[in-house]
Amino acid sequence: MNLEYLSGFGNEFASEALPGALPVGQNSPQKAPYGLYTELFSGTAFTMARSEARRTWLYRIQPSANHPAFAKLARQLAGGRLGAVTPNRLRWNPLDIPSEPTDFIDGLVGMVANSGAENPAGISIYNYRANRSMERVFFNADGELLIVPEQGRLRIATELGVLEVEPLEIVVLPRGLKFRVELLDAQARGYVAENHGAPLRLPDLGPIGSNGLANPRDFLTPIAHYEDLKQPTTLVQKFLGELWACELDHSPLNVVAWHGNNVPYKYDLRRFNTIGTVSFDHPDPSIFTVLTSPTSVHGLANLDFVIFPPRWMVAENTFRPPWFHRNLMNEYMGLIQGAYDAKAEGFLPGGASLHSCMSAHGPDGETCTKAINADLAPHKIDNTMAFMFETSQVLRPTQFALECPQLQPAYDACWAALPATFNPNRR
Ligand SMILES: [Fe+2]
Repeated sequence: MNLEYLSGFGNEFASEALPGALPVGQNSPQKAPYGLYTELFSGTAFTMARSEARRTWLYRIQPSANHPAFAKLARQLAGGRLGAVTPNRLRWNPLDIPSEPTDFIDGLVGMVANSGAENPAGISIYNYRANRSMERVFFNADGELLIVPEQGRLRIATELGVLEVEPLEIVVLPRGLKFRVELLDAQARGYVAENHGAPLRLPDLGPIGSNGLANPRDFLTPIAHYEDLKQPTTLVQKFLGELWACELDHSPLNVVAWHGNNVPYKYDLRRFNTIGTVSFDHPDPSIFTVLTSPTSVHGLANLDFVIFPPRWMVAENTFRPPWFHRNLMNEYMGLIQGAYDAKAEGFLPGGASLHSCMSAHGPDGETCTKAINADLAPHKIDNTMAFMFETSQVLRPTQFALECPQLQPAYDACWAALPATFNPNRR
């Protein structure tokens, strides 16, 4: 199947898999074309400001309401319960990919969270590992999903169409959208941010102007594609952190036409127009924001998705790695490929680190010493893609995250090697 996409961000898109399937001039005609049923899929409250509102009209073979009762699954998500709160800096090695058959749902592991899904703000962060395609269909009532693949290509069949993503691309699935994750390689691993708050959008650019960072036309939404399959299908939902399932006699990925702006999309991180200093010092890492979920406090994010892509370092007379810092925000970092320029070792692709509110962090001893003594010629940081889920509320690790063998016991030691260089007699 050759995939086609619609380009843009926040658009009122329209797509039909059969000619004339989309009603013209009205949303809910008495008889929809082809005998389809009309359904409204709302991602925000009806009464939100127009600039905030997300909704899509669906024209489908069976309405979603056609399902029996959901029953709670015996097998729940790993890492569901939160553990002890800790102010400590934490770092994890990559989680192993299981050898037993594991699909995307079974392979989701809760790592940290700052809010239950019943709150209209906050985030939860998961890792996923999988070695086989889902045969079930899933939707998440608890929030929007931002998926960051680190290993393995995914084919994600959704109600609105099919997306294919590979490492260095991301995909965002609206809250409640039904989808099935299929593997295009033998195994897959990556990160998921579940956003309970306002839907992700592009950040404002301020003095940067009308171009730069992630450009709207590089966001791709699938075209309509439906499955007219009368076969038993398990539909799983996550509701307040728990998995529930029911059995359908048809595929719920049966939307023939749709129009709206509550849509899934993908983005290639290699298209990010990275901006940085051309004189000295470097700007705050907010310059690397791809997508943001705002709170009601202007400038305070519920979730910022920030990347550290390949880029030229040219600043003169400047300590070039990320500076030592402490800040209000809470930072969960991951690595998609290569090495991160603040750490000489210990932070691996598929691994993660957590720096909570006011916890001090920055380059490790080796990186710091090297940076102070470096000859500052222009040089390119290449073959790298680290990222950060940054949030304004403290993230609590799950019991799993605190007890798994991948938690590094001596992360603090990477800053213990900083040499004592202070000499009051030498300016
Ligand atoms: Fe930081």
